[in-house]
Amino acid sequence: MKTMLQIKVTKTKHSRLPETDFNNLVFGRSISDHMFVADYKNGEWTDLRIEPYAPLSLNPANSTLHYGQAIFEGMKAYKNPSGEILLFRADANQKRLNESAVRMCIPELPEEIFMEGLTTLLDLDRNWIPDKPGYSLYIRPFIFATDDYLGVKPSETYKFMIFTCPVGDYYSKPVSVKVEQHYSRAAEGGTGFAKAAGNYAGSLYPAQLAQKQGYDQLLWTDAKTHENIEESGTMNVMFIINDTLITAPTKTGTILKGITRDSVLKLAKEMGYVVEERFLKVSELEEALQNGKLQEAFGTGTAATIAHIAKINIRDNDYILPKKPDYAFSYQVLKKLDDIKYGRIEDHRGWIVKV
Ligand code: COI
Repeated sequence: MKTMLQIKVTKTKHSRLPETDFNNLVFGRSISDHMFVADYKNGEWTDLRIEPYAPLSLNPANSTLHYGQAIFEGMKAYKNPSGEILLFRADANQKRLNESAVRMCIPELPEEIFMEGLTTLLDLDRNWIPDKPGYSLYIRPFIFATDDYLGVKPSETYKFMIFTCPVGDYYSKPVSVKVEQHYSRAAEGGTGFAKAAGNYAGSLYPAQLAQKQGYDQLLWTDAKTHENIEESGTMNVMFIINDTLITAPTKTGTILKGITRDSVLKLAKEMGYVVEERFLKVSELEEALQNGKLQEAFGTGTAATIAHIAKINIRDNDYILPKKPDYAFSYQVLKKLDDIKYGRIEDHRGWIVKV
């Protein structure tokens, strides 16, 4: 892909590709050779460059370390059967990054810097993109404050960076989740919809308590009543009851507007499913589990893709979900999404960009 912007490229002299075991990839551990960097100073994004992936040097007074002005995105690139690079819905990630930026008082990043930085980086590190089914290149764009100043105010300088990792499954087997009715992830008027680092930090302790009890993740409920199911720690969640696909709406501003969530809802409608964007009550889920009416429960996310849920704990009661038939919606939609992402079927929705 041709670059219109001035991006200075410095290539690594020691590629880590030969020592990377593509058959044993742990999510987020193997990082590709290069990273894209842009700096925000004097009111503009400048100094666009690609450098060998390397540690950063920060002063202890760096304001991100204290006040947490940091946002990120998660997206993926795939290889089609002819070896071309396919990017999935990158435009949606770019828009969401800027929505998070506005909420966190971070200057928005122009679309062309995001897209050209990303495509130049992918082109350079194309050999890092796995070409096996089920594998992809996870892309982590992020922005953080770089002022060295301890007064509480928005930073005047920032860094935008992108690095990438070859990955397989985030969850290698169906997950168990626990409905959380004490701690809260997000409250109305807060930052729940933003992909802000602090949202994840605040969710770790309650999730760790559940993990100590043997659950993989929490199902967060609303902060006011703890009766409405919102999302899980690493993904949005969906349920099928009475042949209807139910997922929490994003209008309260407490839920991440997942791009996989949106893609699954669009595909479900095309596949003729009834879709309800509404809050599923904990009591409704409990009743559906007790009466055998919960047909499917699964998470949706970039990293998690479609994560089947096998066990749900509500008010200290474990419910094991019945094994899903081969024709289950979550299997069908995962296959459809993969067919689009890996270029096995034509994309007529404008979701794929070839790099
Ligand atoms: C993603 O799915 O890309 C995420 O950001 C979730 C996670 C790994 C924190």
